[in-house]
Amino acid sequence: MNKIDPPVCIVDDDYSIRDALENLLRSAGIQVETYSSAKEFLARANAGPPGCLVLDVNLPGFSGLELQRELSRMDVHIPIIFLTGHGDIPMSVRAIKAGALEFLTKPFDPEDLLDAIQEGMRAREYTGLSAGDSAPLSGEIVGTSSAYRTLRRRIAMVAPTDSTVLIQGETGTGKELIAHEIHKMSRRKDQPLVRVNCASIPKELFESEFFGHVRGAFTGAIKDRVGRFEAANGGTLFLDEVGEIPMELQSKLLRALQERQYERVGDERTKRADVRIIAATNRQLQQEVKEGRFREDLYYRLNVFPLQVAPLRERREDIPLLAQYFVGTLAKELKCPKSRLTEAGVARLQNYEWPGNIRELRNVIERAIIVAQGNALEFDLPTTISAPVPAPSAFEMIDATQPEFLTEPEIQRRERENLWMVLQKTGWKIKGADGAAELLGVKPTTLISRIKKMGLKPRDATPSGLPQN
Ligand SMILES: Nc1ncnc2c1ncn2[C@@H]1O[C@H](COP(=O)(O)OP(=O)(O)OP(=O)(O)O)[C@@H](O)[C@H]1O
Ligand SMILES: [Mg+2]
Repeated sequence: MNKIDPPVCIVDDDYSIRDALENLLRSAGIQVETYSSAKEFLARANAGPPGCLVLDVNLPGFSGLELQRELSRMDVHIPIIFLTGHGDIPMSVRAIKAGALEFLTKPFDPEDLLDAIQEGMRAREYTGLSAGDSAPLSGEIVGTSSAYRTLRRRIAMVAPTDSTVLIQGETGTGKELIAHEIHKMSRRKDQPLVRVNCASIPKELFESEFFGHVRGAFTGAIKDRVGRFEAANGGTLFLDEVGEIPMELQSKLLRALQERQYERVGDERTKRADVRIIAATNRQLQQEVKEGRFREDLYYRLNVFPLQVAPLRERREDIPLLAQYFVGTLAKELKCPKSRLTEAGVARLQNYEWPGNIRELRNVIERAIIVAQGNALEFDLPTTISAPVPAPSAFEMIDATQPEFLTEPEIQRRERENLWMVLQKTGWKIKGADGAAELLGVKPTTLISRIKKMGLKPRDATPSGLPQN
């Protein structure tokens, strides 16, 4: 753990315990924040999620378990270590089922607490609960294109069933948001949705992560650990980035999915898993199967109800609505004045390829809101012209198949290409005898405003920037 890790928050109404824990953690080089009640902790919500929460069960007013429920309702996922004065078993089972990481009975061994915190921070890292991710997902699925309407219908159809769902789509298309939506619309909605980021589980911890282990099962297993299948029991297990599971571990997962049974590492007893599986990947799994990187039997086990999410560039008609939605929600979230989306701005967004899909759109709008400070939004997008189309040759000019006139969009496209070529030629020099304005026969100020209007940026052409004047 290092200094840049998010802090560990301690919530306990007993001052002497807070003090002792604070000293213990600080001396281990861990950043700490202490709170005497659940309410006080909730009031810090804007400070970003902590790395881990050490929570007293018996707090006055709002109990530790209630705080756990409230966080889960807010879709904030923080590894929680509960502390209790009375090793209350039913309570600990409830807490663990709801996703708690550990349950320690006072008085506890400081080493146990430090180990649990270490495990919590690690779990947070490789279940993908980084600060950015654990911000609640927007919660609203926006889109009206026919591709999106079909997707929504399919989500509504499958959500109430217990069917396994396989969500495939490029990065940033909203797979995780969809998984949350399915869970929320299912009869399991009051039970946990447990996400496992399959891409970041170290191989040697795979079984323990999924199935749990018992104390002494291997070196370092100093206490029992609840696996993800068990934590999700009664709810949904979201296998994110499922295409990244190494081949040799796929059979272990297959068995648990097939038989809905598993054993904790070091324990012979078989446990039953009552979980609904949702898997997501940005790979095309069928292709992965063909290329021998993914087990065919596991693919069929997961591909019961497939949902394919189209990339944003294939449903550009959703862009204006999504942009409007992000402009509204992000301005609030960022506490920035609301900025205007102009027609030119929307056109620019619609003309871009969006390799990072909706996530990229959201980020571009966020940046623009911060820069605009209440004015019209301007978008800093790499130009999508990769190689300028060469000017038509004399032969093409007299080609009988060419129309006799040019349409407005065609004129604009040509003007843009022409401008781009001149700027390439002059290395983005605007003014002076060999500048682009002179070559085009326009005033430099006119040229600059045209460049802005067309959203051309020198980034991909030369390292020099646009003149500021
Ligand atoms: N239809 C949508 N309407 C509103 N917001 C959306 C929509 N789809 C995605 N988002 C937002 O876009 C961002 C990325 O979505 P998400 O994390 O679900 O994508 P992903 O497909 O899981 O990406 P990756 O493959 O990279 O993990 C999130 O902030 C999410 O809230
Ligand atoms: Mg994702």
